[in-house]
Amino acid sequence: MEQNFVIAVDRYNLIPTALVSAAAPSNIALVKYWGKRENQIPANPSVSFTLTESRTTTAVRFTKGDGKVKVRLDGEDKPGFAPKIEDFINRIASYSPIVRLYDWDINTSNTFPHSSGIASSASGMAALAGCLVDFEEICGICFKGTEKIERQSFMARLGSGSACRSVYPGVVVWGETDALEGSSNLYGVPARNVNDVFAGFHDTILLIESGVKRVSSTAGHGLMHKNVFAEQRFAQAHENTKKILQLLENDNIEAVGKIIEQEALSLHAMMLTSETPFILMQPNTLSVLHAVWDYRAEHEKNLYFTLDAGANVHLLYPEAEAEQIQSWIEENLAKYCQDGKMIHDRVAIK
Ligand code: PMV
Repeated sequence: MEQNFVIAVDRYNLIPTALVSAAAPSNIALVKYWGKRENQIPANPSVSFTLTESRTTTAVRFTKGDGKVKVRLDGEDKPGFAPKIEDFINRIASYSPIVRLYDWDINTSNTFPHSSGIASSASGMAALAGCLVDFEEICGICFKGTEKIERQSFMARLGSGSACRSVYPGVVVWGETDALEGSSNLYGVPARNVNDVFAGFHDTILLIESGVKRVSSTAGHGLMHKNVFAEQRFAQAHENTKKILQLLENDNIEAVGKIIEQEALSLHAMMLTSETPFILMQPNTLSVLHAVWDYRAEHEKNLYFTLDAGANVHLLYPEAEAEQIQSWIEENLAKYCQDGKMIHDRVAIK
């Protein structure tokens, strides 16, 4: 119930100022969230791996005021970032009325280069939500059990849907599914019983294209309202959520990989079949996908790709095969990356 997240203003001790900081990693979806209803409610459940290396650290100085926002990235003023944060504040104000009673002086930094094509919204919004719940605690709100992390996830979701999954390590589920008791459309929850072969799974991110995306995810989600395949897609995501959560309990990496790749291509198929179609993959994206399939046909290796809403490719593989696979990637796929750039990341298990 959304109502459970409302905190009345008289429960806060309105201190003059406080400095808080929080960090959060990025995540990569295995089952994709694409399409939403009012108030950031996902049209289908999604499942992700939380990463370790690609992360955002944010510090916020809250000072009594009226909700003014100042943002710096690596110490440099970024007035262009403020409107997104002001939108976020407006969305969360009915749950946390203090957000408009303070000015937000934000200093943020990412471990990955800005405009590298890696979305900073998931790690960024999860870190900002972390700052807010810490500040609420300093203002006298007492959270019990999982209340604090669920509130952080709930708030992060209102900033950017996929951000709600970045608050937990390991495998995270967001969206109601029969396959996981306690799953919710309002916040992410960690998956239980994940097999050890997925611990420390590798994710090498190939930076195919940097810069601002041609079509934002907000616009992409919106286009699902009129996509003639939307209902089938949502049903497929429900089915794949069930299947993958079951499979992640065992060590059948190949079966998991098959779903991951199908999900990536279904996501992009939705873009291709929108009323206003668009393509975010680049020729080099396709070259990488074919190279991965050829590699698998020649070698019995567990190397699988996934895509987010952009041209970059995430390559997933287990620790046990990492040495050989990583050298193959570096030797054969750097030529498809912008300036040869790739990021070797890992799944955060604990
Ligand atoms: O969180 P948003 O609104 O940026 O949407 C993310 C959508 C995908 O990255 C394509 C899929 C996902 O589940 O993360």
